[in-house]
Amino acid sequence: MDNQEIASFWDANAPDWIEAVRAGWDVYREMVNNPAFFELLGDISGMRVLDVGCGEGYNTRKFADLGAEVVGTDVSRLMIASANDHETGEPRGIEYHQAPASDMGMLADVSFDAALSTMTLMDLGDYAESIREIARVLKPGGLFQFSVTHPCTMTRMWRWMYDDRGDKTGVVVGDYFALAPSRPGSDIDEWYFGGAPRDVRQTTRPFRIPRFFRTLSEYFNTLTEAGFSVEKLFEPHASRQAAAKHPNIADTRVIPYFLIFRCRKRVEPEETN
Ligand SMILES: C[S@@+](CC[C@H](N)C(=O)[O-])C[C@H]1O[C@@H](n2cnc3c(N)ncnc32)[C@H](O)[C@@H]1O
Repeated sequence: MDNQEIASFWDANAPDWIEAVRAGWDVYREMVNNPAFFELLGDISGMRVLDVGCGEGYNTRKFADLGAEVVGTDVSRLMIASANDHETGEPRGIEYHQAPASDMGMLADVSFDAALSTMTLMDLGDYAESIREIARVLKPGGLFQFSVTHPCTMTRMWRWMYDDRGDKTGVVVGDYFALAPSRPGSDIDEWYFGGAPRDVRQTTRPFRIPRFFRTLSEYFNTLTEAGFSVEKLFEPHASRQAAAKHPNIADTRVIPYFLIFRCRKRVEPEETN
């Protein structure tokens, strides 16, 4: 599947996606992923930051609110149009471009202090090319932090296991190696935000999202081959108290759903002279 076709899926998802995200119905983002991502991120004020696969700009605006000078890119025309509309209404000085992560030719070499990406890189058909493109625009020593669905649990074949009371106890995973590393295939995943009100969930057409399956080693080895050092991995999950209070994030304590990579573009010896 090429980027044009992937973009057409995201353009079709865009209207409902934008409404749901801005309503705060992405409870995994609000209560699990973003708190972990931003804690790990630390201070980015004054940095020039790229948000890769920025969608309609929800987190892009948060990066700008932390004092960064932010550029967002996304393959979907409608996501970028919506991000631009928001920027016009509430300017933060964010610059948006419609572009696939593997070809961000409008961005100069070594021009960013940090590249960030939230829940996008598992959706790329051309992961390796995109990682090399991100390395191109980052300064030596630049930060690259991104989150993805966890490749070891969100496999091509997976289903929940339940106990006698109907509580989730684990997942069965499979087909982990089937499509990686050299011939990543794609499937269309269909789902809607579980945190949305019941009537919305019952009446809204599910998102249709092309998914690409990669092993953990493919994620990791591609990064190191492109010139990154991986500094830290983090598997965000709800605290015991948060899970008790918000049952719809409790399943993040059963298996790791998400994985955050914190990487650094290596400074090559000739660059230190
Ligand atoms: C799950 S959404 C996440 C959006 C945003 N980062 C957020 O946290 O709200 C994934 C995004 O990846 C974008 N995307 C998919 N393939 C892409 C590619 N090859 N290059 C850039 N963006 C891509 C989609 O258009 C979509 O906006």
